[in-house]
Amino acid sequence: MVTAAPVSSERISPTAYATGYFWYRHGLSHPALATAEGRRIDGFMRPVLAAVQRIGGFSMTALMLARHRGIDAMLSRAIDEGRVGQVIEIAAGLSPRGWDFKRRYGARLTYVETDLPHMVVLKRRLLEQGGLLTPGHRVVELDALAEAGPRSLDVLAAGLDPKVGTAVVTEGLMNYLDPDTARAVWRRIAAALRRFPQGVYFNDLYLREHNVNLPAAVLGAMISAFVRGRMHVHFKSADEVPEVMRQCGFGDILMHRTGSIRETQEYAGTKGGDAVMVLEARV
Ligand SMILES: C[S@@+](CC[C@H](N)C(=O)[O-])C[C@H]1O[C@@H](n2cnc3c(N)ncnc32)[C@H](O)[C@@H]1O
Repeated sequence: MVTAAPVSSERISPTAYATGYFWYRHGLSHPALATAEGRRIDGFMRPVLAAVQRIGGFSMTALMLARHRGIDAMLSRAIDEGRVGQVIEIAAGLSPRGWDFKRRYGARLTYVETDLPHMVVLKRRLLEQGGLLTPGHRVVELDALAEAGPRSLDVLAAGLDPKVGTAVVTEGLMNYLDPDTARAVWRRIAAALRRFPQGVYFNDLYLREHNVNLPAAVLGAMISAFVRGRMHVHFKSADEVPEVMRQCGFGDILMHRTGSIRETQEYAGTKGGDAVMVLEARV
């Protein structure tokens, strides 16, 4: 049953097993990050997603791959251009990004993956077992909803090098948060990034005008049922995005469509692949 209750953080966590396995199945991850639980949920979801695609023409696979590869591409650009040398990923779950970026950039990059305590324990164990942790790659506890204290973004950011450009990444988190909570998280991210000479935030971005169709509604209802809470698409149209993000403390706002990123162009012609953008918000 779909309820209107806010989603509690613990209920979101199982989705990380599923997406973790999904990245692995699509060749983006390492076997060490593919869990039996992820395979079980993925195995259940796969025929459902295939049916939604067959009947409604909406590809959740294209959406997911566009979102993940799109964030990867824009984060890579920021590093390659010398704007970023430190990354904080919030709610990293079982995403391969920390491992993948460290193997590509090595000592040039500090990567701090964060999540809630139980996921941090699991992620650290899986990375250690796979021999995938290298110097400058850490997995630490962070609660995106914490205003202050040891699990807050503010405290984590204060421990990084204030002379190095820094990126914060969230992927697959913000749509579980209600509008007020999401804005508070964005305000905390903008405030944390102001500590650094350059600061940039990357997130997967959805507009209601791109997502008002039956298959998207069915998928949204399924995910809501799974986490037993409501999903939120925060923006009606692209016009609203800069306004809201500037109110939260960001300056330049860029919205990258799937078709405008070389690495995700292949998904732009697919319904679903065109429903996600990469938000790049600079301070
Ligand atoms: C859908 S998963 C996304 C994981 C990963 N970013 C990906 O795309 O594969 C959501 C993650 O958010 C984490 N999470 C939920 N609430 C959180 C909070 N308040 N602070 C930090 N992480 C949270 C969960 O533990 C889970 O790992």
